[in-house]
Amino acid sequence: MQYLIKITLLTSVLFIVSACSEQTTDTLLDHNDITSNNKVSVSKKQTEQPLKTPYSDGDAIPATAFIEHNEVYNAESVIPPQCYTKTEGDNNPCYACHQTYKDNPNRPNTMNDGDLQGEYQFSDLGTTNHWKNLFVDRTKMIEAITDKEIKQWIAQDNYADFINKFSNDPNWQGEITPINNLATPNIAFDDNGLAKDDSHWVAFNYKPFPSTFWPTNGSTGDAMIRLPKAFREKDGEFSQDVYFTNLALVEMTMKETLSISTIPVSEQVIGEDINGDGQLTQSVNQVNLGTHYVGDAKNIAISNLLYPENTEFLHTVRYIGINEDGSIYNAQRMKEVRYMKKHSFKDKAELASEYYLEAKEKHFENLPQVHLLGDKGVNSNMGWTLNAYIEDEQGELRHQNSQELAFCAGCHKTIGSTLDQTFSFPRKVEGASGWGYINLAEQQDAPNLGEDQGEILTYFQRVGGGDEFRQNKEMLKRWFNQDGTVNTQKVARAKSVYELITPSAERALQLNKAYLTIMREQSYIFGRDANLTSATNVLEQVDESQAPLKSEHRYNWDMRLDWAKGLATSQASLD
Ligand code: HEC
Ligand code: HEC
Repeated sequence: MQYLIKITLLTSVLFIVSACSEQTTDTLLDHNDITSNNKVSVSKKQTEQPLKTPYSDGDAIPATAFIEHNEVYNAESVIPPQCYTKTEGDNNPCYACHQTYKDNPNRPNTMNDGDLQGEYQFSDLGTTNHWKNLFVDRTKMIEAITDKEIKQWIAQDNYADFINKFSNDPNWQGEITPINNLATPNIAFDDNGLAKDDSHWVAFNYKPFPSTFWPTNGSTGDAMIRLPKAFREKDGEFSQDVYFTNLALVEMTMKETLSISTIPVSEQVIGEDINGDGQLTQSVNQVNLGTHYVGDAKNIAISNLLYPENTEFLHTVRYIGINEDGSIYNAQRMKEVRYMKKHSFKDKAELASEYYLEAKEKHFENLPQVHLLGDKGVNSNMGWTLNAYIEDEQGELRHQNSQELAFCAGCHKTIGSTLDQTFSFPRKVEGASGWGYINLAEQQDAPNLGEDQGEILTYFQRVGGGDEFRQNKEMLKRWFNQDGTVNTQKVARAKSVYELITPSAERALQLNKAYLTIMREQSYIFGRDANLTSATNVLEQVDESQAPLKSEHRYNWDMRLDWAKGLATSQASLD
């Protein structure tokens, strides 16, 4: 009902905007009108029923019309599609994001939203699933694109042009993050993941977050970290020894470990005994957790589970590359470039008050406030700025508009499972061997902290499928028995994470084509997931009749991984 009213309202607004531009200032609703004052909006609608509109009730208004008229399509875009999955009492994909950690009082993330697992407690607006692209069957559109066309498309580098364009735009106020040859990572980074162009970005090998970020579910991706200047230098000079030691210290604090392996570094260069053996050695490969960072950052204290101020992350989301032999790689073409910078350091107490404010807003059923910063993206209020770029209808990377950016401030802000608002770095392959561009073939299905069984195997069992929506047929066929249970033996025998979560060449082609059609529509605000057919296990509208998730299917989970255990188990299964 409410949704219908909004559509009517929107049609009238669109009409007014296009028909009589002089009136726009008092009739065009801004974000607040729609979000915090539905009543006013409704009464406006009743008085402003236009005679003719470009769209009438029930019309499919294209995403581009919302953007063009700066009309908020979904004020609850922070709620991702995953939240609308039908649990049917048994299947729980919710645990990966909604978590409460009662026994770790040191965690600065006090969101504690574990009770949302299987609970569709949405705001009124949130009860409608706005991600309508989930319900589009793209079969016909996919058929219209040839294999040759899509293969050529994904093999093009759109990143270099993007960097060029933004660097040469005198009016651009946002960040520019060049990495030479990023489209072809084996040329861009050295064996330790350090960018060869002195940009000081470091690529790391991490385990993709369950489901959405598995290549079999639509995209490949990578992540890079960069620490600020002082963390990379000794007496004002770049030092790889200092940089990798500080990176190891950041990793230890995010993983709450006391010691970690490192690529060989010199204690003599660093000027400190980092492995605690009482000597300054020329080459060491172990770092112990201290109280402070090293090099020119030696006066900066290490904070538990928090990155230093001005830490940056770069994340590219890519098409699925397909080699001649059918193997999968990170394609040159990027769907999105995503960026985060910790612009201000907030300690645990400051963060706690931000989480408290957030809870209070929710209590009063206020819709999320998104703090947009123009070219600079969006401020999460938790100390981070997020920014992002996505393909325009020609495939060139453009700045994401405000409605697209609002989406970022959900997962990276107000869910319980994240560590300092991030995902990938805490999931990095441990220590020295985790530096270098992402490589799924080198990873075992390590269990999460405190568990014994592989993360992916566990996810399959808890979710009842190879994706949160239980609609990835290839995964069901590969890893599940006829009766719907997981083929545990087969999953445990898989040689690597690559084998478990990458699609066949055929599926990869289809996923790429499906996404290309979304890109051509520029309909990202309706959903960016490359689903092939209409989702059946997802609610379009939440209602009271949903069976509650049984208590035995609610889980405590730490997204971090026990890599040593992963190796031990895979060794054991080889024996
Ligand atoms: C990929 C991470 C992710 C998964 C998986 C996920 N959610 Fe969410 N959920 C979010 C984010 C992000 C928000 C928005 C938080 C906010 O309000 O800022 C959210 C919001 C919600 C809300 C609204 C909370 C509020 O106070 O307005 C509900 C209810 C919810 N999720 C239920 C679920 C259920 C049920 C599942 C499983 C079927 C689920 N979620 C799976 C990330 C996730
Ligand atoms: C549905 C939840 C979700 C949304 C929405 C989302 N992200 Fe992420 N983001 C993730 C996950 C999960 C990862 C880890 C990627 C992986 O495991 O492959 C990630 C990784 C990142 C990283 C690398 C650092 C890190 O946290 O691992 C950056 C930077 C980033 N995202 C920025 C953005 C921006 C900008 C947006 C908005 C366009 C956005 N994200 C929207 C879930 C989300």
